[in-house]
Amino acid sequence: MILAIENILSPAEAEAFGEAAAGLTFGDGKATAGRFAREVKANDQAERTPEAEAMLNLIRDKVAGHPVFASAVRPRAFTPLILSRYREGQTYGMHVDDALMKGVRTDVSFTLFLSNSNAYEGGALEISDTFESREVRLPAGSLVLYPSTTLHRVTPVTRGERLAVVGWAQSWLRKAGQREIVFDLDRAVMQVHAQEGKSELFDTLSKSRSNLLRMWAET
Ligand code: NI
Repeated sequence: MILAIENILSPAEAEAFGEAAAGLTFGDGKATAGRFAREVKANDQAERTPEAEAMLNLIRDKVAGHPVFASAVRPRAFTPLILSRYREGQTYGMHVDDALMKGVRTDVSFTLFLSNSNAYEGGALEISDTFESREVRLPAGSLVLYPSTTLHRVTPVTRGERLAVVGWAQSWLRKAGQREIVFDLDRAVMQVHAQEGKSELFDTLSKSRSNLLRMWAET
């Protein structure tokens, strides 16, 4: 499941974080890339200073606390978030993310855009499956999440600057198909509740959702 979630940050928050990010010190992004991804990675990343850590922790809490993200990802753990910057000519070629980072299995990858789309050209996140590729460029404050099992790249920035926060979550549910079923059931439970309250159908659906989680959750 590839999902875009709008307004994880309000426009004012996105702007404030973008301005704060501009004051951070950036280093070569190759430092955190795996053996082969390093060969195609040409971007900058904020160094892990106390200011950067504080900002990224705030952003992680916003992401983790968003109800749609929580429902789609069922996060159990996060890797440290990374603030990435692409300037003209920078890119991150096709790669797959490392399966394990700092003791966290990467099930879901996400990108939270901090720059407005008109602040740069190029710089799309392109996600490939065996059938097609799709390009994602979202407004500042919006997030896209996708299974970490996919090949993806960031197309070259041809003008301006693209700031984004990237991160990975380990889910309670290892398989993307399981996460999608429980995500759909979350929505169904909410819809039934909105239509008929805590009815018999609501109780049955809620029970199925809980029991699927109980069956599939890895503890
Ligand atoms: Ni990646």
